[in-house]
Amino acid sequence: MTREKPKNLWLSRWGFILAATGSAVGLGNIWKFPYITGEYGGGAFVLMYLACILAIGIPVMMTEIAVGRRGRGSPIDAIGRVVHENNGNPLWKAVGGMAMLSGFLILCFYVVVAGWAFAYTWKMLDGSLAATSVEALGGVFEAHNANPWQLGGWSVLVALLTLWIVAKGVQQGIENAVRWMMPGLALMLVALVGYAFTSGSFDAGFAFLFHFDASKITGEALLAALGHAFFTLSLASGAILTYGSYVPDGQSIARTTFMVAICDTLVALLAGLAIFPIIFANGMSPSAGPGLIFMSLPLAFQQMPFGTAFGVLFFAMVSIAALTSAISMIEATVAYLNEQHGISRLHAAIGAGAVLLVISLLAMLSFNLLAGWTPLGKNFFDWLDYLTSRWMMPLGGIFMVVLAGYALRCDILREELNLPPTGYALWLFMVRYVSPVLILVVFLNALGWLLFDPVQRWYWIAGAIGLLAVAGELLRPRVTSVLIGR
Ligand code: PHE
Repeated sequence: MTREKPKNLWLSRWGFILAATGSAVGLGNIWKFPYITGEYGGGAFVLMYLACILAIGIPVMMTEIAVGRRGRGSPIDAIGRVVHENNGNPLWKAVGGMAMLSGFLILCFYVVVAGWAFAYTWKMLDGSLAATSVEALGGVFEAHNANPWQLGGWSVLVALLTLWIVAKGVQQGIENAVRWMMPGLALMLVALVGYAFTSGSFDAGFAFLFHFDASKITGEALLAALGHAFFTLSLASGAILTYGSYVPDGQSIARTTFMVAICDTLVALLAGLAIFPIIFANGMSPSAGPGLIFMSLPLAFQQMPFGTAFGVLFFAMVSIAALTSAISMIEATVAYLNEQHGISRLHAAIGAGAVLLVISLLAMLSFNLLAGWTPLGKNFFDWLDYLTSRWMMPLGGIFMVVLAGYALRCDILREELNLPPTGYALWLFMVRYVSPVLILVVFLNALGWLLFDPVQRWYWIAGAIGLLAVAGELLRPRVTSVLIGR
């Protein structure tokens, strides 16, 4: 079987690291992480999230890059080729299809949040954020959302910018943007943490983030933490797999993965450390919901020296971080239409953009005209987020690790990963046993099907992993032939 020749490659060794970091670091870190940490009560959630990054996120990310690079193409094509190399069942391509769909659906609500960041850059300048209380800033946020033209206008602007960049091809633009932006964003966050340290309730914020309270571990919170690990690392959404397909041969996948995961986690923790002290200092509730950072940070900017300039710069950076993530969500779709159907990138972006605008319109209207439309208690915006993060991405993750761990000949991915023997064994153990069992347990748990007590549960899980490891090693040839479909 001949391997596909790469068509597009990152320009430099840093290209992929920059682009993957650009994809991973975004609103997930600065907007979503603080807001869901607040909702699920702090420290216990943070710990669950970190555990998911380590035990699931990192192995899945390595797998996605390896499969992407081996298959050299959009998720559907890359998985198709890798499976074909094994004479496997082409149905596996559906995993790529689901990932692409997840990325696309995420973008449909992401443009709304990114629109908030863009709008707040402007609002910092025009004085509309001069209010001096949390309540008043909450009012500004609500008024912004209540106006469909205002909310929609900014979101559409983000969507058009994203499509324009994607139409032009991602490599050069992203590599250049991320190179200066990521260090800039990190520096600003450090400065904000410094501010929080001196004038906020730093201790209260710190304790909220890192104080472990076992009673806060619920099935719902675990699922949210798992989903967020996928979201924040851009996994199971076509983004990392497609970017991985542009990685030159010979670049270390493991090292790259760790660098991206560490940067991503650091940015999220810094954002938490910057935001929670400000929230506590101003008597705000950490569980204020999606508006959390937009209601709290402007207060800090007002109180600090050069606050306006700093605030403008901060929201501008968040906007660009959002843009580099948004691009990666739709890159898989555009690459697929381009490679598989020979449609030019421009036309692919226009076509995908038309669908995007229709669906994201419903997300924009969730905050105003359609606010009353809440089937099963969630508006359309929340449904998009819930379905993708909590179910589609972890499910895609399971399929990915099962594909890598059971359905492929070992030596293909061993070649791609090119790890020392212990590193490879560890990766294989994680994708075969630990990651799938953990994801499954989190699912069952969230569905309320694991009713035994929470401490005992961990013995059960450890037992299940062990048992599966033994059974798996004995039965694997069988399982593999079934999965491959021969
Ligand atoms: N990881 C991005 C963030 O944290 C979001 C994202 C999800 C990007 C899925 C691409 C794919 O903001």
